[in-house]
Amino acid sequence: MKNKVIAIDGPAGAGKSTVAQLVAAGLEYIYIDTGAMYRAVAWKALRENDTVFLTDDFIIKTVKNMDVRLQYADKTTKVYVDGEDVSDHLRTPEVSKVVSQVAKLAPVREKMVFLQRKMAENGAVVMDGRDIGSNVLPNADVKIFLTASVEERAKRRFEQMMKKGYEVDLLKLKEDIENRDKADMERTISPLIKTSDAILLDTTSMSVRQVTDVILSLASK
Ligand code: CDP
Ligand code: CDP
Repeated sequence: MKNKVIAIDGPAGAGKSTVAQLVAAGLEYIYIDTGAMYRAVAWKALRENDTVFLTDDFIIKTVKNMDVRLQYADKTTKVYVDGEDVSDHLRTPEVSKVVSQVAKLAPVREKMVFLQRKMAENGAVVMDGRDIGSNVLPNADVKIFLTASVEERAKRRFEQMMKKGYEVDLLKLKEDIENRDKADMERTISPLIKTSDAILLDTTSMSVRQVTDVILSLASK
């Protein structure tokens, strides 16, 4: 199969990264987790911030002075910030809370989108995020918009976080997901949308394997 480009977008907890990794493994492609890049900026801004709230100016100053790298090897994504492996610090409730504020800022998006396009320039890539099909890779060979009911997405995230040992509250998690989806859909620059050429997959009642197989079959056409 030619070196295709597969774009997967959708709201939080829809299964994008789980499925994208399996699709990439099935095709022997690389997987690019763009959410991890925005999370890395949020992580660094939180670490350096010494006031109560993060201001947009502070986030912009942070992103201008940081080096973000993604490394995908042995089916694992590692994220480096200024040479430090921060992969295990990106999915905390604290980072999830501020990441949409970080991701709405033009200087942040410009820097991340530039890096994402560079990583995809040779094809053979599965990239997931919010604006992949609409903005980062508009000529992708396969565009998927992955979703599920918010109750199902909150449940999935709850189980995922519990397994990792985080103490989480299901209702609070659902509220956080709703707030983040709203912020991601309503921002001015590259909001989360389903483009007309993207295939909508509602995965509420689908298993990870079923979703993966549908995408692999679309990719093989
Ligand atoms: O895994 P989950 O769906 O919860 O989030 P993520 O993919 O790790 O993305 C975290 C956040 O980064 C999103 O809520 C967006 O605010 C932002 N993001 C974005 O703006 N554009 C992307 N291409 C990917 C993520
Ligand atoms: O990347 P995104 O936020 O869209 O979601 P994820 O982190 O890949 O998936 C959240 C959780 O839902 C994972 O633990 C998956 O195993 C699970 N999942 C599922 O139960 N059924 C699906 N059809 C897809 C994902």
